[in-house]
Amino acid sequence: MSTSPCISYPRHLAIIMDGNGRWAKQRHMSRVLGHREGLKAVRKIVKKCGELGIEVLTLFAFSRENWRRPEEEVQSLMGLFANALKSEISKLNQNQVQLRVIGNLSRFSKSLRHAIEVAHDLTLNNKGLKLVIAVDYSGQWDIIQAVQTLIGQVKAGTLQTEAITQDLFATYLNLSDLPLPDLLIRTSGEYRISNFFLWQLAYTELYFTETLWPDFDEDALNKALLFYSKRERRFGCTSEQHAEINVEA
Ligand code: IPE
Ligand code: IPE
Ligand code: MG
Repeated sequence: MSTSPCISYPRHLAIIMDGNGRWAKQRHMSRVLGHREGLKAVRKIVKKCGELGIEVLTLFAFSRENWRRPEEEVQSLMGLFANALKSEISKLNQNQVQLRVIGNLSRFSKSLRHAIEVAHDLTLNNKGLKLVIAVDYSGQWDIIQAVQTLIGQVKAGTLQTEAITQDLFATYLNLSDLPLPDLLIRTSGEYRISNFFLWQLAYTELYFTETLWPDFDEDALNKALLFYSKRERRFGCTSEQHAEINVEA
């Protein structure tokens, strides 16, 4: 399937990349090999999103709850992430990708945190795709860290409780300087958010596919984008109001 030049693309695409383990199991391979194959899909999708001019791509790579997995799997995921960061960063930089990593990160090794900082600084001024990798991230953690900062400011007397509005609160969350996710894709036939963005998904279009992440290719992405382009995003208005706004625009 080819992508039509007329379809409207999301400014911010977020993906819950799920199904690496099942992909490997179907092939009697270890879960680790499934994750390696998942990385190949990441490369393809990052490239394609850059070509399409999508502004932000956020990939959920490791959740706060994923620390509960067997030690061996956690270690191999950390290793894979660290190696990918090292081996991909110069190419990403050449392609004008701006890399950001969001999440708690306090349980990561010092050297991995350093590599993240270096990659961040190197690509900070790039003008292409903003690639966000969410690791040790959870939507609940994001909200709590915002609340803690706010309370600190109220206690210090630099913020009045009455000044805390919905808009102000949102500025304390991760990625508050970027557009909110327009489209969320979850692969592998699971119909849940699994503690990914919570606040940020309030008006996001949701797309679920049975495809396992390692099999998610350019065609699968095109299908999701086509789905998105057909949605009527009303944001609480009526269909008629929505049509009027579109005519005016
Ligand atoms: C997604 O694939 C990758 C991570 C959560 C790190 P899974 O490892 O969850 O794959 P399944 O769900 O077991 O198939
Ligand atoms: C969600 O996948 C987290 C990531 C893709 C990073 P999981 O495989 O951890 O989610 P659950 O456990 O099936 O909800
Ligand atoms: Mg899973």
